Amino acid sequence: MPDSAHPRVVVREIVRETDDACSVVLEAPDGVDFSYQPGQFLTLRLPTGNGLVGRCYSLCSSPHVDGELRIAVKRVREGIASNWINEALEVGAEIECLPPSGVFVPKSFDENLLLFAGGSGITPVLSILKSALAVGTGQVVLVYANEHENSVIFADRLRELAEANTDRLHVIHWLVSVQGLPSRALLRAFIAPYSSYTAFVCGPSPFMETVTHALRDCDMPPTRIHIERFQTFAEDPFDIPTTAAAVEDGGETARLTVDLDGETHEYDWPRQTKLLDFLLAQGLKAPYSCRQGACSACACILDEGEVKMLTNEILEQEDIDEGYVLGCQSLPVTDTVKIRYS
Ligand code: FES
Repeated sequence: MPDSAHPRVVVREIVRETDDACSVVLEAPDGVDFSYQPGQFLTLRLPTGNGLVGRCYSLCSSPHVDGELRIAVKRVREGIASNWINEALEVGAEIECLPPSGVFVPKSFDENLLLFAGGSGITPVLSILKSALAVGTGQVVLVYANEHENSVIFADRLRELAEANTDRLHVIHWLVSVQGLPSRALLRAFIAPYSSYTAFVCGPSPFMETVTHALRDCDMPPTRIHIERFQTFAEDPFDIPTTAAAVEDGGETARLTVDLDGETHEYDWPRQTKLLDFLLAQGLKAPYSCRQGACSACACILDEGEVKMLTNEILEQEDIDEGYVLGCQSLPVTDTVKIRYS
């Protein structure tokens, strides 16, 4: 698949936010739908010194407030992509980029939101926060954990928002250098008054685990706990399989009906070919990002039949009960399968 098959965004501005983090304004490509929802991410293919590397970066801009696409990227130790962006990316560069995707998105901005961000986990959380204040009516509480004061990304912006929305926004900075690591017991005490809120959590894995345990301790149901987890790709998410590679398994097929972008398609689906690979090989623009069961960008709804997911590191049982499956990991089980992308 030639590089030109993927849209390219143009780097318009790079702003140093802290010593180890920058934000990057990207211009969407002409003729490609780059509209997005608060909390979604972009998948970039970066020409680092170690070759092309695919990574997801959440948008910190809000489609309800900002007229730009902006991501924020913090250096991490041995982080090939994040270090390259902070050191070598230049204004004017053109970067391959998949359209916005992800399900870390509030269903309503009128509900009360309890937001937890750790370090660069503030990026999707800030998008949600700004959107809620702009178009919603609920209360918004943000707990933002960082190592120390100098590592707080968007400190000024958060202060401005808090001052302008004293009746709706409450921001709590948790500095590990001052308060120590946020423990489950401390968080539990903090969360208790807000247990009727809907939680969104993004940050380092140990932070998200601790917060999630504390939320569950406070009887918050899993349906009101949303977490954003990014992982390094084992496969190149830009490497779309060819038709031949995807369908040449020569064996049995299942009858597949797919609703996508307002159109219905029918196929004989080879039983050893994963749904996403098969649809991309047919030329359909099915959504995806990681292609390894870790991000949910490929989530679709199973309306009829049964599929087997080879890997699922992201969907909760509640999602599966609602019919969601991961296209990138699904093989047919029944002879007839109906899938819908909503
Ligand atoms: Fe990420 Fe399927 S594309 S889970």
